[in-house]
Amino acid sequence: MNKSKIILIGNNKNLLDLICFSLQTNFRFEVIKFTNIVDLIEYMGENDDFCLIISDYALGEKQFSNTLKTFVDKKAKVPFFALGVPKKFKEKNENRDSISEFIGKTNLLEDLNIAVKKYFQVDENETPKDFCEVSFSVLTAFDGLETDLFIELPTGRYLKIYRTEDEITEEDVTKYQNKGVEDLFLHKKVSSWLLKTINKDIENIVTKIESNQEVKLEVEPPMPNIKDLKNVDEAKSEEEVIEKIEEAKEEEKKFEEINQKVDQLFKFDKKMEKEVSDKVSKTLKAVKKVPSLAKLLKKLNVSRNPDDYCKQHVNLLCKICTAICHVMEWRQEATIEKLVFVSYLHDITLSDHPHLARLQTKEDFEKVKDSLSAKEQALFLNHPEQIKELVDKMQETPADASTIILQHHENCAGTGFPYGHSSNRLLPLTAVFIIAHDLVNYIINEPNWNIKDFTLIASERYSGSNFNKVIRKLKDLKI
Ligand SMILES: [Fe+2]
Ligand SMILES: [Fe+2]
Repeated sequence: MNKSKIILIGNNKNLLDLICFSLQTNFRFEVIKFTNIVDLIEYMGENDDFCLIISDYALGEKQFSNTLKTFVDKKAKVPFFALGVPKKFKEKNENRDSISEFIGKTNLLEDLNIAVKKYFQVDENETPKDFCEVSFSVLTAFDGLETDLFIELPTGRYLKIYRTEDEITEEDVTKYQNKGVEDLFLHKKVSSWLLKTINKDIENIVTKIESNQEVKLEVEPPMPNIKDLKNVDEAKSEEEVIEKIEEAKEEEKKFEEINQKVDQLFKFDKKMEKEVSDKVSKTLKAVKKVPSLAKLLKKLNVSRNPDDYCKQHVNLLCKICTAICHVMEWRQEATIEKLVFVSYLHDITLSDHPHLARLQTKEDFEKVKDSLSAKEQALFLNHPEQIKELVDKMQETPADASTIILQHHENCAGTGFPYGHSSNRLLPLTAVFIIAHDLVNYIINEPNWNIKDFTLIASERYSGSNFNKVIRKLKDLKI
């Protein structure tokens, strides 16, 4: 499991919010906040998914010692940072050696950053997040702050809920919270800019927060200029916000239902799921070593939304290719690895052009040809060969993967492209991939899909022994 969570415990919610704001602005960790030790003990008893614990001594000596003891007893091999610990505790406590870093409060946020960097390497390949979580307490500390504010939809896209000129009220925020949207987000550039102001007077701010005094900060113009936001929707009214939240929930539900039905159909279990995710990580690692591909992959990695064909498509394709290998009893690791690799890469040069990635056959292409530019037409027609060339240059490409990519738009009758090869010239795994790909499209487009109907269509569409074998096995599946 990916350990990317930070546990943060303290007695002052506003201080935790501030620390969280700084961590989120500077890193990609998820932060889980606790204001009491009972919840923390319960969480630590059930979970191992954290990579760091940060505990504030202001909890009181007893509670702080208990937190530390819980951590020691858990034997989690992760660092423990202690904030604002007095000298006498450092000298006496029996578990003091288990504390990895002591961080004072005079320059709290920046010292905390330095400590985090000491223990965690920032992965340069990781796409930086454009948005940063911000709590209401941090936001309202700034007088005269005029900025766009966002929420994260269940699909992972962001929705602009306030424009610069709007006034933000706590009441509105609660309204969205009731719809299951908990957090507000700022653009990363804005949060970094605000953080600079905070850090200039951090000692004073922490003292005020800890003594429950109101913090009032002045923004320091110029505010960063943000344009060309990707992955963002906009809502013009409150009703529209609610509507978009509902829509996104619906979309997410639909995708979950598809996945559940596929799981049931193929008896897709936890072990197979792990198999897929292991192979996906391996593929991504290999791809990230090639800068030109890594760049394309980032484009593919935008979050799902109704128009976001590529990502849904790839996720489902990895799953269905693996599932078909299992029903074919081709369970060798290398086979699954190959197909997951192909699933990720087969249309990678089209990741910025989902309308092209949707086209499957030459007929599909002919229908829309006139609406495409010459560049788009060439991009589409040449993508199998272009991608083959790209992956052939990679050191870790699984054997035959580039051939399957080259052949993924061929078709049994010889009417496909680029070569118009008929089925006897296609690899057995190309047959699996072509059918899996077809099945994925069918499932996404057909709300009442069932495998029986698909095998009927497929029997008509495909011929040749490699294709027939796969279809025969699909016919045996019962839901
Ligand atoms: Fe393609
Ligand atoms: Fe595709």
